[in-house]
Amino acid sequence: YKRVTVKSLVDMKQHGEKISMLTAYDYSMAKMVDAAGVDVILVGDSASNVMAGHETTLPITLDQMIYHASSVIRGIDRALVVVDLPFGSYQSDPKEALRSAIRIMKESGAHAVKLEGGREIKESIKRILNAGIPVMGHLGLTPQSIYKFGTYTVRAKEGEEAEKLKEDAKYLEKIGCFAIVLEKIPAKLAKEVAESISIPVIGIGAGNGVDGQVLVIHDMLGITHEFSPRFLRRYLNLYEEITGAVSQYVSDVKSADFPSDDEQY
Ligand code: KIV
Ligand code: NA
Repeated sequence: YKRVTVKSLVDMKQHGEKISMLTAYDYSMAKMVDAAGVDVILVGDSASNVMAGHETTLPITLDQMIYHASSVIRGIDRALVVVDLPFGSYQSDPKEALRSAIRIMKESGAHAVKLEGGREIKESIKRILNAGIPVMGHLGLTPQSIYKFGTYTVRAKEGEEAEKLKEDAKYLEKIGCFAIVLEKIPAKLAKEVAESISIPVIGIGAGNGVDGQVLVIHDMLGITHEFSPRFLRRYLNLYEEITGAVSQYVSDVKSADFPSDDEQY
């Protein structure tokens, strides 16, 4: 796929090719993630945590999401770029949801939006889809509802919540979402959902029976070194690498080792 589109993702599912997705929030990181061949870049509202240092995703604003998204768009040649609608920009009414989605598309140049929730936000999703904007769903642990859940533990372990999730996934497919993220739910349930619908299901902490995987880039690179949920595979320990490099720089400056004769004019 020279350029990944929403259509390519459905093709990948049909051909059994797993979909790779990672977050990015700025130009330089997006350039590397795109060059490495990731299919989908998510400008996640996790920027609220890893870029801004908030405890939750709730405080980030639509303007801030647009700033991150427009920076990411300037760094990519191939990936499909999906942007989270932040908390408060779509829940109050469908018209506001559409206005928020339109602002993201116009002002950042992104390719699709993601909203947390199932049938309770169906009117908003339909309105956005009717405007020709591709929508990715997000079910399971939806961090914008953290104060409703009270904890970041696994969702939909059984009963009503699992049944609702399965119905919501089918509903999102029916109204025209192009993919769904399932966050932190049992692998068995996630596999069942992925097998019951024809649009791709991208998991995070949802096991290997789904159609693709997503991680927060700061987590997989080990920049967030104190966050170690079971689902996280760390590919680097950048927290240590970067603090090591910076402390070396500090000591080189203090000792007047830097700059050397070769590093001046
Ligand atoms: O904001 C985010 O990073 C996300 C992913 C974890 C799916 O929504
Ligand atoms: Na998010």
